[in-house]
Amino acid sequence: MTSNGAKTWITVCDTCKRQGWAETGAEVTDGAVLAGLVESAAQGRDVAVRRTSCLMGCDHACNVAVQAAGKLCYTIGRFEPTQEAAQGIVDWAEKHAASETGQVPYREWPVAVKGHFVTRHPPLPVTE
Ligand code: FES
Repeated sequence: MTSNGAKTWITVCDTCKRQGWAETGAEVTDGAVLAGLVESAAQGRDVAVRRTSCLMGCDHACNVAVQAAGKLCYTIGRFEPTQEAAQGIVDWAEKHAASETGQVPYREWPVAVKGHFVTRHPPLPVTE
């Protein structure tokens, strides 16, 4: 159960291509590889995962958004599509889920997400 009842969602950009991707001859984008790894890492965890095409941060691929209603929301990027990155993203997102505000103390951040934060958005005001 999350702290304020809102589910934390990890949104992975599945069209991200890191610099040099075209030269690798790969048919699957870096973002799609990362999305698959995040989906696997999130199995049985207290987070939800979805994919989207482009978070408009293409220059610092691979990009991921972490969001929950009523909490701070984040964009994190510059990930390589690795198991370590996927695990760190899920571990951090689960701490976001457990946090009342969405803020996670720095000392609890997995190493894999340090240096990857791009934006932070305050929650929208509650209106009648
Ligand atoms: S393609 Fe991933 S942010 Fe644009």
